[in-house]
Amino acid sequence: MQNRTLVKNLSEMMEQTVTVAGWMHRLRDMSKFGFAILRDRTGLVQVVLNPEQLEQLKGLQVETVLKVTGKVVKKQSKDPNANEVEIQAATLEVLSPVTDVLPVEINNAEIDAHLETLIDNRVVTLRNLKQRAIFKVQEAIVRGYRAYMARQDFTEIFFPILAGAASEGGAEFFKVDYYGREATLTQSAQLYKQMTMGVYEGVYGLSYSFRAEKFATSRHLTEFNQLEFEMGFVDGMDEVMDHAEGSIREIVATVARDCSGELALIGATLPPLGEHFPRISLRTALEAYRDEAGIDETSEPDLSPAAEKWISTVWAPKHHGSGFVFVTDYPTTKRPFYAMRDPKDATNTITFDVVGFGCEIISGGMRVNRYDDQVQAIKDKGLDPAQFEDYLMMHKYGIPPEGGFGMGLQRLTQNLLGLANVKEATIFPRDVQRLRP
Ligand code: 4AD
Ligand code: MG
Repeated sequence: MQNRTLVKNLSEMMEQTVTVAGWMHRLRDMSKFGFAILRDRTGLVQVVLNPEQLEQLKGLQVETVLKVTGKVVKKQSKDPNANEVEIQAATLEVLSPVTDVLPVEINNAEIDAHLETLIDNRVVTLRNLKQRAIFKVQEAIVRGYRAYMARQDFTEIFFPILAGAASEGGAEFFKVDYYGREATLTQSAQLYKQMTMGVYEGVYGLSYSFRAEKFATSRHLTEFNQLEFEMGFVDGMDEVMDHAEGSIREIVATVARDCSGELALIGATLPPLGEHFPRISLRTALEAYRDEAGIDETSEPDLSPAAEKWISTVWAPKHHGSGFVFVTDYPTTKRPFYAMRDPKDATNTITFDVVGFGCEIISGGMRVNRYDDQVQAIKDKGLDPAQFEDYLMMHKYGIPPEGGFGMGLQRLTQNLLGLANVKEATIFPRDVQRLRP
């Protein structure tokens, strides 16, 4: 729209005539005059309407799309320091009339509805200022990640989604009928990031991951994104973890710099980062949970959701001033076929998770890089090496010692913003029950 002024720029247009356009967020009819609150993608502004203009809006509901031309003036306020502006409408044009009442009220700070209702009506609930702010933060997260990785001179790759073999094992993958053959939707870009690492050495990308999860939980989606990373010629896992930490720090700094308005709308305080993210073994984590929280799960092969929450929101902030913690040394039974085994102990892998202010946000580690070892590891997991012919080609023809990680975008968004359910951090979530909107 030519000559349209965005709401965020109105304060620089004092006493000038401007054209604004957006949605009617609220309407107050005082009979002799009225106020419409107009919302565009940058903010809200009050528009003062005369009786004829109010008449134009008779029978119309909030969310009617308007175009208003008028003068920008200082808004009347009891607070002499308030620096807000309003528009005295000269002309009003209805671009799209809305005559139906919205299924959910969206013009309050919080939407007063169950999460499922909120998502059922996502097309309009996303217009709520808080809801829409969540995905501006998500965008800043990806921007910060890309900026970090690009600065390391790594190469962004665009990974395929349709694949022949499942990368993460288990039964949690979707099958797709592909011209009569069976294909799968990628569980992660794992195999492809390793294959491209074997050329570009350092690769990253935003992938789509699909998991046929059996249960709906507050942290599982059936479709999500990963911020993927893979790097060759590393000395060891610490180098991989350095990039995990570096990218998280840049992500948090980007959100802090670019999203102060969004954070205020959401009511979120970013987690503490501390000097360094602590790096502890799974055993040490479980022993701390036993000794300091009094819950003994030391015989478990993994952290429970409660232990993850405690280690990242209680233990790590208390001892290290950080809401992020690296947990290393997961048992071989818990990691996929590509995970490097500990040369000193075949039951242990050289892998890590990052537990980030609530739950696991990253899995990563060193990978098997020699052909014979990888063929054996595939067999040890009860899988058929013939299914992985293309993948094994890279091992056969030489890849360097390497490692990488995958960071769940929706989980990271959820935990940075302190949201109770990962679906709140997913713009169009899919779960066991849901395939719409
Ligand atoms: O831990 P995961 O399954 O690891 C991988 O996919 C490996 N390829 C990563 C690697 O490079 N080694 O998934 C990685 C991350 C998790 O830490 C979590 O943040 C997120 O992806 N994630 C999910 N997010 C939402 N819903 C689910 N069902 C998720 N499963 C994993
Ligand atoms: Mg994991």
